[in-house]
Amino acid sequence: MRLKDKVAIVTGGANGIGRATAELFAEAGAKVGVADRDTRAGKDCVAALQQGGAEVLLVSTDVSSDTDVASLVNRVVHQWGGLDILVNCAGVDITGSVADTEPERWQRVLDVNLSSAYRTCRFAVPHLVERGGGSIVNIASLQGMYGWPRYAAYAASKAGLIGLTRQIAAEYADQNIRANAISPGGIATQLGANSDQLEPRFARDPGAPPPAAPAAASATAPELPRLCRAGLPRDVGWAALFLASEEAAYITGHNLVVGGVLSVAL
Ligand SMILES: NC(=O)c1ccc[n+]([C@@H]2O[C@H](COP(=O)([O-])OP(=O)(O)OC[C@H]3O[C@@H](n4cnc5c(N)ncnc54)[C@H](O)[C@@H]3O)[C@@H](O)[C@H]2O)c1
Repeated sequence: MRLKDKVAIVTGGANGIGRATAELFAEAGAKVGVADRDTRAGKDCVAALQQGGAEVLLVSTDVSSDTDVASLVNRVVHQWGGLDILVNCAGVDITGSVADTEPERWQRVLDVNLSSAYRTCRFAVPHLVERGGGSIVNIASLQGMYGWPRYAAYAASKAGLIGLTRQIAAEYADQNIRANAISPGGIATQLGANSDQLEPRFARDPGAPPPAAPAAASATAPELPRLCRAGLPRDVGWAALFLASEEAAYITGHNLVVGGVLSVAL
């Protein structure tokens, strides 16, 4: 078991990539604190994992709140006596070009997608140090590496997350703490719909053209080869598992792209 006796926190663990990561960590023997604002999906996730015999805990958390994040870390440490792994996966997809992005929209995206990782690390790092080391995995995005129209704040938040990852790697290497980012390409999740529900104030992109009518589903849509299709949450979860495990003991400050062919071909 690759994470036997390890204690992990996965933010955004109720859905999508975070949920797949929490499942893989639990299958690998870790005790997992699932932290999310979506407690309905969080309960479902935790119940399914517990049914499989995993030790998991749901902590209702808004990662943009210092108070919530402090109590998340305290609850997990109190429950299992320490902390070894932190995955920062919570995020929202809020769109807008630079000129259309009003300050509140900009601030909210940075709070949830970037400052959240500063916040969790601030409270978690002392506990990783206490254990003699640990692993931090930040879920960034290809959009933190390449431009994409109408994603000003989102792209800035993810580029910032890649920078913060390198900084943590440099700062805490001598305390045996590794920090790596993963930059997924297009992964089949409900990120857009979940973001609209969690952040209704920012659901409408102020400058976007009206949405096109959805294309009729085709029963004959061709099946794409694995590297050309959208990724699955587990495609990213496996990468997180590797980076969290001892197999990645000499890897830090890295940004691992998980995007099939999308990341290398125009
Ligand atoms: N799906 C993709 O194509 C893709 C690509 C690149 C990067 N990502 C990143 O992957 C991460 C996971 O996204 P996903 O695609 O699995 O979508 P998702 O909506 O399934 O997961 C995001 C999770 O974060 C939670 N969350 C949002 N705001 C929160 C807050 N303030 N506090 C606590 N939890 C909060 C949501 O409830 C949800 O469970 C995000 O950071 C996203 O930016 C996704």
